[in-house]
Amino acid sequence: MVIRKARLQDASNVYELVNSLSKDGTLLRRAFAEVCENIRDFTIAETDDETFLGCGALHLYGPHLAEVRSIIVRPEFSREGAGSKLLESLMNEAEENGVHSICLFTRIPEFFTHHGFRIIEDRTALPDKIYKDCQSCPRLYQCDEVAMVRGQVPKVSILGSRIGADQLVKLPV
Ligand SMILES: CC(C)(COP(=O)(O)OP(=O)(O)OC[C@H]1O[C@@H](n2cnc3c(N)ncnc32)[C@H](O)[C@@H]1OP(=O)(O)O)[C@@H](O)C(=O)NCCC(=O)NCCS
Repeated sequence: MVIRKARLQDASNVYELVNSLSKDGTLLRRAFAEVCENIRDFTIAETDDETFLGCGALHLYGPHLAEVRSIIVRPEFSREGAGSKLLESLMNEAEENGVHSICLFTRIPEFFTHHGFRIIEDRTALPDKIYKDCQSCPRLYQCDEVAMVRGQVPKVSILGSRIGADQLVKLPV
């Protein structure tokens, strides 16, 4: 199995697989243009003969927080370790960028607890995530996902305000 950064040529596979699970809300729907624009966020799992197995993305909010998004393995290849390898690679990528806090929203917290994530009860402790996705989500008030964090819950946020690198907004503690 090969785990590698995505290239633009992977965008169709990513788009089709991610959106195959967007109707029931398991993953957020992604427009093809959005996948292309953010393709460098994605990591790909494939077989040695380049059969596409799955993907996952790491979104960098800033030095205080990253998010694992759109992690999915084709059902016919599940439980063969691809999901774990993708997640480990995304966590390494966060570390390489000096980011020690990673968040995600999920319906399957069990998978992520194996990798050091823990549930946080108060999702408003992640205002950047809420600003980015939740505000425009039709499930805003009926969200059935669990918020999880690996590392510290950040004490600052960055979205929704015009701030510079040295002026991250301090959250009330
Ligand atoms: C989550 C997902 C990416 C895991 O990929 P995978 O390649 O099957 O995972 P792995 O083979 O690395 O699994 C390792 C362990 O994680 C746990 N695990 C895997 N999938 C799980 C799931 N869906 N629910 C709960 N635990 C799971 C199991 O303990 C598994 O070990 P086991 O097979 O010995 O029981 C895959 O199930 C998937 O694509 N799910 C649908 C999309 C989704 O829900 N993504 C998460 C959105 S936040």
